[in-house]
Amino acid sequence: MKIRRFLMEDWLASYKDTCRYNLGESGMPDITVGELLARCGKSPESLSEIVLKDHDTRGTESLRNVIAATYGKHIGAEHITVTTGTSEALFILFNLLLEKRKSVIVPEPAFQALVDVPAALGAEKRTYHLTDSNGFNPDPDEVCSLIDDNTGMVVLNTPHNPSGRILFHDSAQAIIQKAAFHGAYVLSDEHYRYLPLNGSWPLETFAAPSENVIATGSITKCFGVIGLRMGWIVAPEKLIREICDFRDYLTHTLSPVSDYLAAIALENARSFIEPALKVLRQNAKSLVDMVKSTPGLSLVRPEGGIVAFPRFEYKISSAEFTLRLIKECDTFVLPGSSFETEQHFRINFGQNPELFDTALDRIHTYCSTLELP
Ligand SMILES: Cc1ncc(COP(=O)(O)O)c(C=O)c1O
Repeated sequence: MKIRRFLMEDWLASYKDTCRYNLGESGMPDITVGELLARCGKSPESLSEIVLKDHDTRGTESLRNVIAATYGKHIGAEHITVTTGTSEALFILFNLLLEKRKSVIVPEPAFQALVDVPAALGAEKRTYHLTDSNGFNPDPDEVCSLIDDNTGMVVLNTPHNPSGRILFHDSAQAIIQKAAFHGAYVLSDEHYRYLPLNGSWPLETFAAPSENVIATGSITKCFGVIGLRMGWIVAPEKLIREICDFRDYLTHTLSPVSDYLAAIALENARSFIEPALKVLRQNAKSLVDMVKSTPGLSLVRPEGGIVAFPRFEYKISSAEFTLRLIKECDTFVLPGSSFETEQHFRINFGQNPELFDTALDRIHTYCSTLELP
């Protein structure tokens, strides 16, 4: 299997730890184990009781129960397996579900694994387009026109990375129906489901094991616990067994330390989500205000998650835009080229609001020096 370079990783490796204002990553600020335990009302000693053994491949029942509780009644622990990061979940699902059929329908722009893993497996890639003009929301007619009897899977991502837009319920249902008619799976990547910018959490899930709609989920970016390297899949029970058979050749089980910490974090979800939402809602407003006051910038307002994807009109490539911003302002955002979309940059708005406001001032001042067409 030959796979393309993960475009964003070189940028992240070079600048995330060296820039004073790091707005290039896609999660809430990382917290310590001590902070996680404190938010969950647990003592540090509780860690010393963890047995370092191999669990059930699906994850402990307590972890799967607490994950299931964040879905509807139609989903129980038997529909869930944890994975080592959502990346492993995606890798397994593409391998299993594209075995017999050849085409995969994917969004563009997208988190690269959603597109390049199936492409590397030899699937025929059919792309639907998310743009500023359609509000980064799929046109269901466009997606449905790509689905046929050869389609193995349709990939959805909501809230969308990089734009933070939430998929319309009716569009998703139209796509799911058409996929079902042709016997194709729908994979709904719901990585940022716990962080809606309006209304209550969690956001709607499209997971429906009885209708071949599989979802992937995570708390790592939303809760600031990326180092737990855990994620999960919601799928029909029969498929969960096949996923576990495949996973036994990969990471096999989640570390018991991550399993324990993820379970207590989810039991105390409110202590992670509510402070995050306060920061995100305040920063989203500051971002919108900065964009409004900066000639040459525009933004489709994010609706969920931690990242947004502003557009710029300057006569400059997205890589040059980013490199100069790093050099001149010590501020790191990801260039649109990481998503193969020029005239854009991805910005993380989950940072401490004081730091974020200073970084926004720097971006505003920097943009004012750039040449408009
Ligand atoms: C939409 C989306 N899916 C999947 C992943 C992979 O997640 P993980 O870090 O859990 O492997 C990410 C990571 O940013 C993501 O944004």
